[in-house]
Amino acid sequence: MNNFKYYTPTQVEFGRGTAERAGELVRQFGGTKVLLHFGGGSVKRSGLLDRVAASLSNAGIAYVELGGVVPNPRVSKVREGIELARREGVDFLLAVGGGSVIDSAKAIGYGLAYDGDVWDFYEHKLAPKACAPVGCVLTLAATGSEMSDSSVITNEENGKKRGVNSDLCRCRFALLDPELTFTVPPYQTASGCADIISHTMERYFWGEGTVEPTDSVAEGLLRAMLEMSRRVMQDPQDYDARAAVMWAGSLSHNGLTGCGNGGHGRVGDWACHQLEHELSGMFDVTHGAGLAAIWEGWSSYVMPSAPKRFARFARNVMGVTETDDMQAAKAGIAAYKAFLHEIGMPTSIRELGVELSDEQLDKLAYNCSFEGTRSIGSIRVLEQKDMREVYRLARG
Ligand code: NZQ
Ligand code: ZN
Repeated sequence: MNNFKYYTPTQVEFGRGTAERAGELVRQFGGTKVLLHFGGGSVKRSGLLDRVAASLSNAGIAYVELGGVVPNPRVSKVREGIELARREGVDFLLAVGGGSVIDSAKAIGYGLAYDGDVWDFYEHKLAPKACAPVGCVLTLAATGSEMSDSSVITNEENGKKRGVNSDLCRCRFALLDPELTFTVPPYQTASGCADIISHTMERYFWGEGTVEPTDSVAEGLLRAMLEMSRRVMQDPQDYDARAAVMWAGSLSHNGLTGCGNGGHGRVGDWACHQLEHELSGMFDVTHGAGLAAIWEGWSSYVMPSAPKRFARFARNVMGVTETDDMQAAKAGIAAYKAFLHEIGMPTSIRELGVELSDEQLDKLAYNCSFEGTRSIGSIRVLEQKDMREVYRLARG
């Protein structure tokens, strides 16, 4: 087992009615003036924004609103938020929405604590040294941003989508009411499930070593997600299934399933995420669906480097009974692909709605390798030429 740090400082309050706790918690964490940050309107339509605003007022907390965050959140909105928050003397950022809104709030938090342009952090010119406090009311189970150390932002001027990972941006609190996710449309629900599963897989497929407690947690989470994803797709108002998916979303990306694992740079493999971020940066596709589209291309390319790991996944998660490792590994890859289809996810980039030309394959690989300056992955390290090959295999 490798040495590890496990740090999950977020106070989670889970269940029906927890959104109303926002005002009290902002006060508990020292906020006096809030930027109430949200997306394109779902929280207005549902009445959630009014409820959260009322809870702030009841707790004596002043606030200013900023909506309009789009999926694959843009740096222009982040800059607008930083300016507004400075002008208004905001000292706490409250995200009400999905991962995009939370990530945008985290980015505003970095920007408020920095004199230069916030994109500097996302270009990795320098690491953030501070972040204004962030809390969230989650409305979509997917990214795990409510407990993760990540913020992912797109620069619409150049189509680059980049992430910053730092404990500084972790939410002070996360209010998780599964009922808020009842209205998430089917495609978005399935994309969220694919994303949650991928966050566990990225840490599970780090290499061939085993860390039994961590592996068992990961396999349990994956099995639960297979079952619960099917249930939420059948009945979007199944409270227990929505609750299970929501909690699995947080557990899949708060570091738990990486404890003791290794990796190349970061704990885990993360190649699929890096490959997907270029796709959604360039084509504005839904992140979880993009991950689903890459699965077969990536797994079939890297599996021969770690057939035992893939065979274990096949047997312990997908219920494959093959005794030969190579055969089991292949059957596991096919079984997960079939699952993705079953919940309505694309399993190739073409099915995602993107027809890739050879030039675009080159461009994606060039961008993903940061212009030829980095490799990605850990179960098999991928150079720029390997990235192109994975995109080609996933093209469909
Ligand atoms: O904007 P509104 O009107 O709110 O609609 C949103 C949006 O159109 C809608 N939605 C959210 N909650 C809803 C709802 N519709 C009805 N009822 C509700 N309760 O869903 C759409 C998608 O929302 P978005 O926040 O974009 O989705 P998600 O949570 O999947 O976030 C995706 C973003 O997070 C990044 C992704 O790359 C992508 O940019 N990620 C962030 C991570 C992190 N910070 O740790 C990790 C992930 O790997 C990921 O990269
Ligand atoms: Zn993800």
